Amino acid sequence: MNLFSPEHILQGGYFHSTLRKLQEPNTSIEPHNIMYPVFLLENDDALQPVSSMPNVYRYGINQLILNLKDLVAKGLKSILIFGIVETLEKDAIGSSADVKENPVIKALPFLREAFPDLVLACDVCLCPYTSHGHCGVLTANGAIDHAASTKRIAEVALAYAKAGAHIVAPSDMMDNRIKAIKDALVSHKLENQVSVLSYSCKFASSMYGPFRDTMKSSPMAGDRKCYQLPPGSAGLAARAAARDVAEGADFLMVKPGLPYLDIVRQTKDKFPNHPLFIYQVSGEYAMICRSGDTAEVHSTLMETLTCMRRAGADCIITYFAPLILSIVSGKP
Ligand code: PBG
Ligand code: ZN
Repeated sequence: MNLFSPEHILQGGYFHSTLRKLQEPNTSIEPHNIMYPVFLLENDDALQPVSSMPNVYRYGINQLILNLKDLVAKGLKSILIFGIVETLEKDAIGSSADVKENPVIKALPFLREAFPDLVLACDVCLCPYTSHGHCGVLTANGAIDHAASTKRIAEVALAYAKAGAHIVAPSDMMDNRIKAIKDALVSHKLENQVSVLSYSCKFASSMYGPFRDTMKSSPMAGDRKCYQLPPGSAGLAARAAARDVAEGADFLMVKPGLPYLDIVRQTKDKFPNHPLFIYQVSGEYAMICRSGDTAEVHSTLMETLTCMRRAGADCIITYFAPLILSIVSGKP
């Protein structure tokens, strides 16, 4: 008597590595599936290691270009730029976010020239530039001033677009910023030359700690729970994504990544025609760096990325980009 019915034998379908590939559709990691976040300083020749994140640096533009050369040669396709100010003044409305001396605005033309094929995305937020450290403009009693915040965020996005950004990526989580940004782009005839990557489903996470140290962008008082989403809320994440799609977002994002893969799947199922990004944040980076020896870090990282792709991510924003490019290109 045959104890095993043939249709219950699964192992016949994945005993060879080539057959296993067929069982994991749409999970390959190619360079266009990776975006590299970079920290840009005012001083053109500066190079500062980030103490909380191994192998991560803050760069002046000259150092950044030097370091990107090798990565672009290995296939790097896109970067996400964060500006850091040390001498420019911080004020209540984040004025230095879009002055002509801003490091991002100064660097964009040089990056365009040095790397004509590299996609340049700019994070758009006020927190690195405000005296209070919040992501929007505040009212006299310390609440978010909705109208003033969206207006200011749109001004900053437009300034980066004019300076040469291919993508503007608002991370502030102010309501209705996507429409404000799209309207600003349209009124300057930039809507078909600049995309809007919305941090649509950004949660009030504990995993941004190393980033906030790096950026010196922690709020002076209070926290970000009145604008970033509550970690347990799939409902608000669904509404935020739908709202941003309705306002014209080109691309959506879930942030952080690994604990939020249900939100990734929910967002991809709802909006299959919008490319979906995951931000593998600084705290996730720190955790994986501590996950074991070099070989274990590599395999844990690649497993994590595969699972993010399986859940529905098209592009993963990750500080591991240099390591991933080495692994997938086979060049150290
Ligand atoms: C600020 C911003 C944050 C990150 C990206 N943009 C921090 C925050 O919202 O507090 C987090 C990135 C990371 O942790 O790697 N708007
Ligand atoms: Zn912010």
